[in-house]
Amino acid sequence: MSENKVIDESIQGEALMIEKPEKANGKKLFLESYGCAMNFSDSEIVASILKDEGYTTTNDFFEADVIFVNTCAIREGAEQRVRQRLTEYKKAKKGNPELIVGVLGCMAERLKSKFLEEEKLVDIVVGPDAYRDLPNLIASAEDGNKAVNVLLSKEETYADITPVRLGGNGVNAFISITRGCDNMCAFCVVPFTRGRERSRDPETIVKEAQDLFNDGYREVTLLGQNVDSYLWTGGGLKKENLSTDEIKNATTFSQLLEKVALVNPELRVRFSTSHPKDMTDDVLYTIAKYENICSYIHLPVQSGNTRVLEMMNRGYTREWYLNRIDAIRRIIPDCSISMDIITGFCSETEEEHQDTLSLMEAVKYDFGYMFAYSERPKTLAERKYKDDVPAEVKSRRLSEIVALQLEHSAMRTKRGVGKVHKVLVEGVSKKSKEQLFGRNTQSTVVVFPKENFKPGDYVNVLAESCTGATLIGKAI
Ligand code: SAH
Ligand code: SF4
Ligand code: F3S
Repeated sequence: MSENKVIDESIQGEALMIEKPEKANGKKLFLESYGCAMNFSDSEIVASILKDEGYTTTNDFFEADVIFVNTCAIREGAEQRVRQRLTEYKKAKKGNPELIVGVLGCMAERLKSKFLEEEKLVDIVVGPDAYRDLPNLIASAEDGNKAVNVLLSKEETYADITPVRLGGNGVNAFISITRGCDNMCAFCVVPFTRGRERSRDPETIVKEAQDLFNDGYREVTLLGQNVDSYLWTGGGLKKENLSTDEIKNATTFSQLLEKVALVNPELRVRFSTSHPKDMTDDVLYTIAKYENICSYIHLPVQSGNTRVLEMMNRGYTREWYLNRIDAIRRIIPDCSISMDIITGFCSETEEEHQDTLSLMEAVKYDFGYMFAYSERPKTLAERKYKDDVPAEVKSRRLSEIVALQLEHSAMRTKRGVGKVHKVLVEGVSKKSKEQLFGRNTQSTVVVFPKENFKPGDYVNVLAESCTGATLIGKAI
């Protein structure tokens, strides 16, 4: 959901490792994840369930007994990458006919059993709410049957499952706080692949944060498709079915944020994704109140034009969005802001594209994730509108947006030079073993000489220079 990338590179595959389980069954799992942070977080639930079954992991799929790929369906390109990957698994299946290949996540949910017809090599298809069923599904596949469970749930939050932290650095971790989405943005497949929105018991969230802190973690990112609509009412009931008293006793997102911030002042708290229509000032005041809640908000805008926003069913206008930006600047003056933009949505005109560019000029985002519109089956837009902006126009508009964002990002980074940043160290810099990297509260990457510091330390770094998105400095 949020890293310092400005183009559509958020869909990456990553093989993930678990440590040895207590009762090994001798079988090896190869687990790969695509898509958003929510999917990576889900893979940690999957790993936990399989670890309990005795699986160890491998990062070589040729030696795996089970290959799971946790998939994304957000854009056509994301699905193509998964299909490409499946053809590579075919080679492993040739050498080992016993090998089980499972497709998990959003693409599994979208295609359901159709997946088995389209991709003969797939044995198991599992949607995001059915991971508890994985041991049964594997057993069924081992008996030579194809196994599918794509049931979506109104309650499942996996609240009681302790995720196995995969491929991590022991410093930052994700915590899911809601699942699903009720928003029905016209372009978006997520409500279809992840079902209705439900919030997770705050006590289990706070406990997970506390356990992570005790294990040495120093940063948690609270995850939800729309964190601002988080609402715990005891039984997972929806707002519209509650009395005023019940709503008064409920836990809202700002209250949850405060509870997690209070776990320990040395634990940084981040969150993603905020929704412009639901982001209230009380959330902003809570961020401002606690030093350990990071001054960084990912606030996807999608378009700078009100007519397009209306067609997208986003629930806000350009003016409303800019008012939210003003509120952030007023309440949290040092806050960095990032966005998602979709260009070339159905019937978007050149003037409307210019409105997106002018909104970017008005906000001057620190980071951005920018995409060309990709029509998704079943969505409102697919059923109601024509995907009529030609590919070359989409791509030209996208490059204009990306170029402008690069300019703004560089400008924002430059403003950090000459200042001291409190950096949470995340690891050794890719470019040099003698350098560490981490992020400041605004989520800008800062690189500095290692000395005796280590991941998990907070270090005050004076930034002396920068590249487009990275500050370079030394500890003071
Ligand atoms: N819940 C988050 C976004 C989840 S999807 C939110 O509401 O902001 C991440 C991003 O992918 C979206 O913000 C959007 O910019 C992009 N996206 C979603 N559907 C898309 C589509 N059909 N084509 C292109 N980009 C899309
Ligand atoms: Fe998709 Fe909109 Fe929900 Fe985000 S808020 S996941 S864009 S439907
Ligand atoms: Fe995430 Fe992709 Fe699903 S962005 S919610 S994995 S469709």
